[in-house]
Amino acid sequence: QDENKLKGKKVLITAGPTRETVDPVRFFSNRSSGKMGFALAEVAHRWGAEVTLIAGPVVIDPPSGINYVSVTTAQEMYEAVMNHKNDQDIIIKAAAVADYRPKQTHEHKMKKHEGNLVVEMERTNDILKELGEQKQQEYLVGFAAETKDIEYYGNKKLEKKNLDAIVMNDVSSTSTGFQSDENEVIVLTKRGLKEAIPQSSKAKISERLFEIFIEEKQGEKS
Ligand code: PMT
Repeated sequence: QDENKLKGKKVLITAGPTRETVDPVRFFSNRSSGKMGFALAEVAHRWGAEVTLIAGPVVIDPPSGINYVSVTTAQEMYEAVMNHKNDQDIIIKAAAVADYRPKQTHEHKMKKHEGNLVVEMERTNDILKELGEQKQQEYLVGFAAETKDIEYYGNKKLEKKNLDAIVMNDVSSTSTGFQSDENEVIVLTKRGLKEAIPQSSKAKISERLFEIFIEEKQGEKS
């Protein structure tokens, strides 16, 4: 009966890193592989949802049967999310979006000079914050990668970004978080739930997360 848990629901998921170009051969990015977001998309699809997966540059194959949107930069991810956000029942932002991008993108490869190089960076749009500001009926979930004071920062983001839930992963461990096939998370919700999901595959973590989100979303109506 798992197949029907999200039947008739629309789920939007973001995954992977973004890539911010400084010249034709160089970019700033991060260690996200996309595995967490892809696992969420696979579970949502298997449970009957209509899934849109917006992902930055990754090397893994997306699950079949979903609407896949491939992007490169934080700005492209922002535009894709804004284009697809309406009428979603659940939005989950598992992507690791760049907070800064080079202020200038050089048309030609930058040349070496004596001494240090300073690249001026400017802020990207905070997609999650804007989703929180425009939030309607959808259940909005953020992810957060922290290396210390996980719960403190989680609660701060939950409130500041007007989220229904935040999934915190400790990325200081190499067996979980970025790139690994497994994760270990703490979920904090606006309704006051705090649940630690012990280390397991990103697929198993995704299943438990959707159970929590579905239960809370149903609870909202009653
Ligand atoms: O991809 P994997 O290798 O499987 O790794 C999974 C993961 C560790 C990347 C994933 O589980 C995760 O934690 N993703 C969020 C990482 C992150 O960028 O955390 P943050 O604290 O910088 O951002 C918090 C939230 O704001 C995230 O939901 C992020 O998508 C969102 N954000 C951040 C910046 C920005 N400009 N716009 C955003 O929407």
